[in-house]
Parts: sequence; C-alpha cells; structure tokens
Amino acid sequence: MCRVGAGGVRSRVLLLLLLACAPDPVAGEERYGLFCASCHGADGAAGVQVNGVAATDLRSVLPALDEATLAAIVQEGSGAMPAQRLDDADTADLIAYLRERFGGG
Ligand code: HEC
Repeated sequence: MCRVGAGGVRSRVLLLLLLACAPDPVAGEERYGLFCASCHGADGAAGVQVNGVAATDLRSVLPALDEATLAAIVQEGSGAMPAQRLDDADTADLIAYLRERFGGG
C-alpha cells in the first residue's frame, strides 16, 4: 500500500516537472509579439523590408523548417534578418507557438 502510494506521488512529481519544462506556446506568443511581429506582422505575412529584402511570409516557410534550423535563424539571423536575443528556453517557447500558428514540426 505504502509503496504504491509513494509511486503515485513520484509519478505526479515527474509529471509536474515535465509540464514545467515543456515549451510553452503562450509564453512563445508573447516572445513573438516582442521579437518578430515588428517585421513579420502579427499574422506572419507583413513582409517589412530590411535593407531592401522583405521579411519572409512565415505562413509559407514554417512547415518546411525543422527545429534546429528555426532556432538558428532566430538566434543567429538569416540573410537580411538580424539575430534576435532569445535564449534556448525562450526560443523553444517561441517555436512551440510558431508550430501552433503556422504549422510544421
Ligand atoms: C528586423 C526585422 C526582423 C525581425 C525582428 C525578425 N525577422 Fe525574420 N526575417 C526578416 C527578413 C528581412 C527576412 C528575410 C531574410 C532574407 O531572405 O535575407 C526574414 C526571414 C525569416 C525566416 C525565413 C528564413 C530562411 O532562411 O528561410 C524566418 C523563419 C524568420 N524570419 C523568423 C523570424 C522569427 C521567428 C522572428 C522573431 C524571433 C523574426 N524572424 C524576427 C526580418 C526580421
């Protein structure tokens, strides 16, 4: 009895840890508003120009980009897009939001 009870508690603690560490698309949406929307727009399609290059329509490119590539684009920049100052945890949250909104993954 006692052992079964303890196991139940342990798995609940593990579940909580997992939830706490899982990427959070709600936090990611906030990051998107702060770091991406100024060029890509709230809907991903604004196409604001940087040095004569239009910001890519995120709705069309997201499905084809894998996690590692997306994280590198965000953290290191890509072509005319400047690197964004987001750490790994914030980038994971952001990508969770991008997947929900624009697909892929
Ligand atoms: C200062 C404006 C600006 C900001 C801020 C910005 N981008 Fe971009 N982004 C661009 C431009 C311009 C391009 C096109 C780059 C090119 O083709 O040379 C681009 C391209 C991209 C691409 C396609 C890149 C590729 O290699 O296919 C993705 C994905 C992307 N941006 C995601 C994001 C995300 C996510 C954020 C927020 C963390 C963000 N961008 C913030 C301007 C911006």
